[in-house]
Amino acid sequence: MDFTRDDFPEGFVFGAATAAYQIEGHRFGRAGPTHWDSFAKGPGNVVRAEDGATACDHYHRFEEDLDLLKAGGFDAYRFSTSWARVMPDGRSVNPEGLDFYDRLVDATLERGLKPFQTLYHWDLPSALADRGGWTNRDTALAFADFSETISARIGDRVASTATINEPWCVAWLSHFLGHHAPGLRDIRAAARAMHHILLAHGLAVERLRGMGRDALGIVLNFERALPASDSEADRAATDLQDQIYNRWFLEAIAHGRYPEGALSGLAPHMPEGWQDDMALISQPIDWLGVNYYTRSLIRSAPDAPWPALAPVEGPLPKTQMGWEIYPEGLHHFLLRARDALNLPVYVTENGMAWDDSLEAGAVQDSERQRFMAAHIDAARRAVADGVDLRGFFYWSLLDNYEWAFGYEKRFGLVHVDFETLERTPKASYHALAAALSR
Ligand code: NOJ
Repeated sequence: MDFTRDDFPEGFVFGAATAAYQIEGHRFGRAGPTHWDSFAKGPGNVVRAEDGATACDHYHRFEEDLDLLKAGGFDAYRFSTSWARVMPDGRSVNPEGLDFYDRLVDATLERGLKPFQTLYHWDLPSALADRGGWTNRDTALAFADFSETISARIGDRVASTATINEPWCVAWLSHFLGHHAPGLRDIRAAARAMHHILLAHGLAVERLRGMGRDALGIVLNFERALPASDSEADRAATDLQDQIYNRWFLEAIAHGRYPEGALSGLAPHMPEGWQDDMALISQPIDWLGVNYYTRSLIRSAPDAPWPALAPVEGPLPKTQMGWEIYPEGLHHFLLRARDALNLPVYVTENGMAWDDSLEAGAVQDSERQRFMAAHIDAARRAVADGVDLRGFFYWSLLDNYEWAFGYEKRFGLVHVDFETLERTPKASYHALAAALSR
């Protein structure tokens, strides 16, 4: 990795990201059940039916993990605060949960790291999932209460707060494609979730602003959609994919509207009166987070129900997830984010999984180093093109629970042995640390 801090503006933040359910160990500290605990038990949902019960046991080892960030010369730590840990039944408070995040934030600050908090990274309390989860408007209202509760405890010390992580995954991937909890394949449920997750964002921003909090934003995931062929049909299918995946959330936040093509399919299933929420959803925020991993090639699928499209396997080199490596897409979306919102932007996630192995106490992950160098360079080019990019977070600090893929996919800069829970920084960690110290 041959970049240096001088390639980026003064004050640019380099960090690593994690999420509560993926690392903490959900069985510790009186957290309540989440819809991921039950989804993981369903047949065929998750590789080996693994869940986040123990994960990396970050709950007990967070100081060691923060030491790794400090020793690597990072500036910031992006983490999430689990709703089900703070409010096990979604509504009443677990003091142990609040205490944990209090200690985590203090320990982060003590090491000179900036705490970047995410409020919702997918650990929905089961009690709320039982009442319809994100298909139910009440979940958005309950989320604002949770946001207030956790912010009352740690909001005075965090550097930044994101409301929702990756609303496309929360809504479409989980309610239409069925790959994530709650595993529905139901367009009506999906339409409701597509709206209610944004309503939750708007209500949380309103509530936190009312408490005097600032540095509020949202983290959107983007995937570059390109047509599988030059045919008119494939280009139209690609445009629709782009609307559902990339434009739905960005345009709602930026302009208070949903893109027409996506809306035409979802409108019959939208919750009544959704139009009245759009002003709340598009109220001003302070920054936008961009998560970027890959691109997809899209073809039309004329025999399929709406949206009549399908992904096609592409020819580029792939990560362990089977995702094509396409750094150009990161540059593209940073410019798109700037054009839509004209706000400070962060790359809140970028990284790759690889089938890393620990040999003689070391992990040689040269593929990851090449991936990081290429994406950091795409970010640098976006800065040169005038994007107000303020930071870059690698996903993830640790190998962790990769949702439907269980513990099989390794994204970490630090290898975790899931038997002993021993941490071993990979070669990529050392390479990044070297670049950050230059
Ligand atoms: C996005 C998500 O925010 C994170 O939870 C996940 O592990 C990574 N991408 C990799 O798939």
